[in-house]
Amino acid sequence: MADPVKFTLDGQELQAAPGTLLITAAKQAGIEIPAFCYYEGYSLQAACRMCLVEVEKMPKLQTACTLPVSEGMIARSATQQIATARKMTLEFLLTNHPLDCPVCDKGGECELQDMVFRYGAGESRFTEIKHHADEKQWSPVVFFDPARCILCFRCVRVCNEGMGVGALGVVNRGVTSEIAPNLHDHLNCDECGMCVDICPVGALTSGIYRYKTRPWEMEHVGTICTHCSNGCKTTLGVRNDQIVRGNNRDRSGLNGEFLCIKGRYGFDFTSHPDRLQSPLLRVNGKLEPVSWSTALQAVAKKFNEIRGVGGSFGVIGSNHTTNEENYYLQKFARQVLGTNNIDHQRTGDVVTLFDALSGTTGTLATVEDFYKKKAVLIIGADLSQQHPLLAFQIRANVRHHSAHIYITGAKAVREDKIATRAAQYSDLREKLAGETELVIVFDDSLKGQAIRDLVAFGSSLPYPVSYCCLVDYSNSRGAIDMGLVPDLLPGYHPAAQGGNAVAEMLADPNLDALWVVGANPLEHAALASAKAFKVVQDLFLTETAKHADVVLPSASAYEKTGTVTNVTGEIQRLTQALRVMGPKPDLEIMGLIGREMGVAAQLGPWIPDKVFGEIRANVPAYNVPLPLIDTGGAAQTTPVNGHISVEVRPELIQSQHDNLFTSGTLGRYSGILNSVLEHHGE
Ligand code: SF4
Ligand code: SF4
Ligand code: SF4
Ligand code: FES
Repeated sequence: MADPVKFTLDGQELQAAPGTLLITAAKQAGIEIPAFCYYEGYSLQAACRMCLVEVEKMPKLQTACTLPVSEGMIARSATQQIATARKMTLEFLLTNHPLDCPVCDKGGECELQDMVFRYGAGESRFTEIKHHADEKQWSPVVFFDPARCILCFRCVRVCNEGMGVGALGVVNRGVTSEIAPNLHDHLNCDECGMCVDICPVGALTSGIYRYKTRPWEMEHVGTICTHCSNGCKTTLGVRNDQIVRGNNRDRSGLNGEFLCIKGRYGFDFTSHPDRLQSPLLRVNGKLEPVSWSTALQAVAKKFNEIRGVGGSFGVIGSNHTTNEENYYLQKFARQVLGTNNIDHQRTGDVVTLFDALSGTTGTLATVEDFYKKKAVLIIGADLSQQHPLLAFQIRANVRHHSAHIYITGAKAVREDKIATRAAQYSDLREKLAGETELVIVFDDSLKGQAIRDLVAFGSSLPYPVSYCCLVDYSNSRGAIDMGLVPDLLPGYHPAAQGGNAVAEMLADPNLDALWVVGANPLEHAALASAKAFKVVQDLFLTETAKHADVVLPSASAYEKTGTVTNVTGEIQRLTQALRVMGPKPDLEIMGLIGREMGVAAQLGPWIPDKVFGEIRANVPAYNVPLPLIDTGGAAQTTPVNGHISVEVRPELIQSQHDNLFTSGTLGRYSGILNSVLEHHGE
């Protein structure tokens, strides 16, 4: 690494790597130089003149956001001349800016408001009538108030460079310049809200949050998005036990400030009017609301009866429930109900990948690797649609590190713009041989032997390769790790005896009981057994719940604690954002069923932390450093340790291929996701 450059700022002797911008070097030394248009990670704009500094031997004030530090440079950021310059810049920015603060959504967290408080004039010298343009709604998610815009172009850059969408531009010139959407008067885009979030003022506002509350009236709860498997941290704004917004402005978590529409706005299923509030029991053929104790007793009585006569159980778990819930459910099924008929909707062949990688270390990619490794090979997947964070990481990697991207797969994808494409990955051998490290990411188009062939190909490359097997939902990976498959116990240990997979349970005409926790297997399939006693835990009366004998309303991921494991095996803690009256967390429901059945001692306490302790003791890969995850960090689990020696029938694996605006059952009950689908004519 080149020697650091020595320079002086505000009398302090400092050092920074050559090429570092003065604004960044100042920040590293704890000196804040104000800025509007400069935004770390995106191209330089030098539009606002807010970051002016004095530099000795330079005749005019300089913009710190474009000036790299140089050896011997002597700069000042807090002189009277600079204060005057900032005051004048603000006066210009306010020329046409309305005095909206009392009604503006951004009030209280507005960068312009903050700067005016600090540097601005108490009054304006402009007496002319302000240039005005009306507010516009560009989509269900994005509103634009041109009068408030300070033309910093952050939104244009984040959409173009960060999202790879390029839906925003500027029209007209001078005082009439205006940010404009890609389709004349509306947007057709990812609806990610990154532009709304990055806007320093209240020019871009969100259709979900606007006029609902003030920032200081909310609780800000950092938890993990409950939609796709990428595991973004979202900070939910909660007021009166209602979530009113999501963002991640503190940039903590593995996603930094990135969120797609689902993590930012797709929380409204929690308050959907169809949300189940009370247990339901089938009485005379009809589902009737009953008390929790009546419903739990009915389940316990029937489960004990069936257990007593050695009847057959089928248990189907979820891609969204926590590790603790999944672990407890498989323990319940195997140890209490005596069955290995336990499964979930499997969406990626993680098991074969781990088996193929057995005996290796460091071969599972992390989310950070998608940003840091020098090359990425994408096989089959449409990352921008299905794994938005991974796609965002790859775009940033190309921008910041000139990473090389390779793609194979039938479908044209957004990443094609920045990638080399081939029909087969083997066609890329020559090009890949020139790399020095590689992440390979693949979807459910590769299963079984095809994954073993891929790992053999990766091993033949002359450098380290790490892999990521894509799965669909927020805890799809945790479901497999926790043994929600018939043939594998938690931690990929083979079960002594096999069991039935989902399709086989549904097709079994002699099944005595079907227990479904957070899944909807009867959405597209029928249940063959007419006599089966059906218990369903869910947020909504799904197709499966409609067929149930007992329905138990469950809490969503935003209403409970526990841990989830993302697509790259990184485990994170949920934080409870909402209290709910009717529904209960699935873990508590299972614990209460166990208690009613008289098997509570066998199952152990249904307290998330206690169950997590058991997981840590029994699933070696989950023995992650607690302080890391307790402080909001993500710890990678690496369950690649030995041959798995069980054939888990890869043919049963099928991704649901949700897109940016769908999310299984949760998506169906998100008004905002549905309104966006409608807006896009889908
Ligand atoms: S919502 Fe996202 S995709 Fe749409 S314009 Fe804003 S940044 Fe671009
Ligand atoms: S809309 Fe906001 S982010 Fe975009 S240019 Fe205007 S002030 Fe900047
Ligand atoms: S990328 Fe996935 S985890 Fe991240 S916000 Fe979107 S849906 Fe949630
Ligand atoms: S931050 Fe430097 S010109 Fe805008």
